Amino acid sequence: MRVLGIETSCDETGVAIYDSAQGLLAHALYSQVAMHTEYGGVVPELASRDHVRKTIPLIENAMAEAGLASKDIDGVAYTIGPGLVGALLVGAAIGRSIGFAWNVPTVGVHHMEGHLLAPMLEPNPPEFPFVALLVSGGHTQLVKVERMGNYEILGESVDDAVGEAFDKTAKLLGLGYPGGAALAALAEKGDSKRFHFPRPMVDRPGLEFSFSGLKTFAVNTANKYGLAPQTQADIARAFQDAVVETLVIKCRRALHATGWKTLVVAGGVGANRELRLQLTAMTQQENSRVYFPRPAFCTDNGAMIAYAGCQRLLAGERSSLAIEVFPRWSLSADSIF
Ligand code: KG4
Ligand code: ZN
Repeated sequence: MRVLGIETSCDETGVAIYDSAQGLLAHALYSQVAMHTEYGGVVPELASRDHVRKTIPLIENAMAEAGLASKDIDGVAYTIGPGLVGALLVGAAIGRSIGFAWNVPTVGVHHMEGHLLAPMLEPNPPEFPFVALLVSGGHTQLVKVERMGNYEILGESVDDAVGEAFDKTAKLLGLGYPGGAALAALAEKGDSKRFHFPRPMVDRPGLEFSFSGLKTFAVNTANKYGLAPQTQADIARAFQDAVVETLVIKCRRALHATGWKTLVVAGGVGANRELRLQLTAMTQQENSRVYFPRPAFCTDNGAMIAYAGCQRLLAGERSSLAIEVFPRWSLSADSIF
């Protein structure tokens, strides 16, 4: 089955074509980051309007790249939540309409399920069951994945998502928006011994996270020591070390709690080099294995939606003619498998 996937939940327009026999045939991405930068964050109305401008040209590009015509597509998948309501509505309206026009079935996909299944697009994909660490701009969750569509949240952040904490800390260091990747780059130049930030909630049992205090710690450190270039890098390093170690401790705990040996990491922060290194080291010690998507498929993209949608269409799921989106939507609420 060959599926066109469309992702428009936030500030990236992503389009891809996934074939269940041949794998990924094409993918195209347009990032709105430059447009939102001057406002210091995503402006929802501007995001929606830009998805209106970019989605159809991107679909045309992806179809041309794969050398396909409309008759070659067997289904259409699009993100229906969680995310910005207007942005979601653009992708859902376009995806549902294309399905109607081309007379093929359509399916709405949960954005976080897309992230969670992104490692399936890589050579040597993980096998079920596994523990998934989802770390994006809006979510920080440990999920017990028995099989596709069966998701139990083991723990999540009680306040800021980890990507949000990266972005807020980057902003106060003057690194612009979204600053996660810039903060990570700066941290590489930092001295890990200069400052020590706390590892939140690791001294009590459980798999919950809290990251908002680290941002405050960064503000207080900046107020005390200033923001000369080396100090800035040292703060970035202390922040990243605290986040990474906290995530590693909780992932180890989740592997122990389930008794499973496979960890999957996905979402934008999954592109973080230090996190990838430390989780690889931890899983080696634990005689377990960790799987990541390639960095380009950690952040938002159409390929993960095409893949997840293809699995759901193959399982017989179909959306109605209605165009419906769910800006707030728990991953565990959804199970058809
Ligand atoms: O998954 P994603 O593209 O969008 C959401 O669904 O939220 O994640 C975006 C988040 C942003 O907060 C961004 O700063 C963060 O991922 N991010 C990173 C890195 N690359 C992206 N955070 C830390 N290190 C990185 N290398
Ligand atoms: Zn995302």
